[in-house]
Amino acid sequence: MGRTIFGVILGLILAPFALLAWFQWGHPPVAVADPPLPMERQITQVPLKARIARELPGNPPMQADEANLTAGAQVYRDQCAVCHGFHGRPSSFAAHMFPEPPALWEKHANSDVVGVSDDPPGETYWKVANGIRLTGMPAFKDTLTDTQIWQVSLLLANADKPLPPQALAIVMGVAPAAPPPEVVTVPEKKH
Ligand code: HEC
Repeated sequence: MGRTIFGVILGLILAPFALLAWFQWGHPPVAVADPPLPMERQITQVPLKARIARELPGNPPMQADEANLTAGAQVYRDQCAVCHGFHGRPSSFAAHMFPEPPALWEKHANSDVVGVSDDPPGETYWKVANGIRLTGMPAFKDTLTDTQIWQVSLLLANADKPLPPQALAIVMGVAPAAPPPEVVTVPEKKH
């Protein structure tokens, strides 16, 4: 009995040192090519889901009409496509990130669901506004307006439905870029 208790106490004292030693001299995964830790996905997904469920924003303050979908497509082209890819054209570096940014315009590997079209727009709004820690998914609440975040979230919720032609051309990366702003030259002052 005494030896068992001694063993348990010794184990409790040594466990944190063993963990520290593993961090210091073991080879915890730090490179993109390293295999994931056991249950890494589950461990990071559970708290994220719980947090979003607690803070889930309500319904979008706008309709998924042509103007909002097209504005959302412009936000997508400018801020998101670099990682999440265009419709039919994957991001060139997504496959070399860990975790990989999902292709938001393509069907999931084993189902007909396109991107995050099965998530409520409020859930996507939360992820875009707050970002996802340790994944490379940025928080956009300081760089996009509330309206822009809703517009791109609505667009992604409709990724499995027919889009207005202009919005579709933008998310396929085939719409001509907007013309550069007109250069206004200030007339030189005559002395
Ligand atoms: C620098 C790369 C990068 C940029 C730019 C980026 N994302 Fe992400 N995004 C990621 C990564 C990586 C993930 C995967 C996170 C994870 O596995 O939990 C992700 C995840 C997401 C998810 C969750 C997907 C899911 O299956 O739950 C959504 C939605 C999303 N991004 C939307 C956007 C939108 C909208 C923009 C532009 C406003 C954007 N992202 C810009 C890298 C990026």
